Amino acid sequence: MPCADDRQQHNRYQQRIFDTSVECFRQAIPADVEKRTEQIIAAANPGAGDRVLDVGTGIGVLIPYIQRCGVGHIVGCDLSAAMLSEAQKRYPDARFWCGDVIDIPREMGPFDVVFFNAVFGNMWNQRHALASISAHLTATGRIIISHPMGAAFAEQLRAKDPKMVLHPLPSEKSMPELIRGLPLKLQYFSDQELLYLCILEYVPVTPSR
Ligand SMILES: C[S@@+](CC[C@H](N)C(=O)[O-])C[C@H]1O[C@@H](n2cnc3c(N)ncnc32)[C@H](O)[C@@H]1O
Repeated sequence: MPCADDRQQHNRYQQRIFDTSVECFRQAIPADVEKRTEQIIAAANPGAGDRVLDVGTGIGVLIPYIQRCGVGHIVGCDLSAAMLSEAQKRYPDARFWCGDVIDIPREMGPFDVVFFNAVFGNMWNQRHALASISAHLTATGRIIISHPMGAAFAEQLRAKDPKMVLHPLPSEKSMPELIRGLPLKLQYFSDQELLYLCILEYVPVTPSR
C-alpha cells in the first residue's frame, strides 16, 4: 500500500526534474499545439466571473488562454518553485501556490474550473487527486483533464521515465471506476490521436437511505 512518504519522495523527484526544465518550457508552442490548447480551453468554457485553478501550471502555459476568456481569478499550482517563479514573472495578475495539489489550502478556492493539462499522469495517486480537488469545486464546478499531444504521447513519456509519469491517462472505460463514489460525473470524453480531453462535473453525492 503506497504511503505518504512514497508520495513525498515522488514529489521530490518531480520537483528536481522540473526545477531544471524551465528553459525547455520557454520554447515557443507550435501552431498546431496552440490550436489544440485553444480547443481545451473552449471545451472548459470558463466565464469572466469564474475562479480557475491550473494544476501543474509550470511556467503558466495555459494562463494567457484562460485570461483571453476574461477570467480574472486564476490560481496556478505547481511543485516546482523554479517553474512558478517564471510563471509569476510572466503573469503577475495570477496567484500562485507551490506544493502538491492535494494539499492546496481551502482558502485558495473554491474553483469553478480546474485544469490538469499535461500533468494527470504525473499524479502520485490519480483518484486521491480527484477526490481532494472535488472538495474545492463550486456547485457547478468542473475538472478538465487534457493533453494537447494526446494519450499516446503521454504513454511515450511514461515509457521514457516511468518514475516521472506513473500512470496512463484514463481510458473511457477506466474513468468511471476511477471516479466511483466521488462527487463527479463523466460529462465528456474524447481520446483522439493528438488530443486527449475529458471533462468531469461536480455532482453532490446524495446519501443513500
Ligand atoms: C509536464 S509539466 C506541464 C506544465 C503545464 N501544465 C503545461 O501544460 O505546459 C507538469 C508540471 O506539473 C507539476 N506537477 C507534477 N505533479 C504535481 C502535483 N502533484 N501538484 C502540483 N504540480 C505538479 C510539475 O512540477 C510540472 O511543472
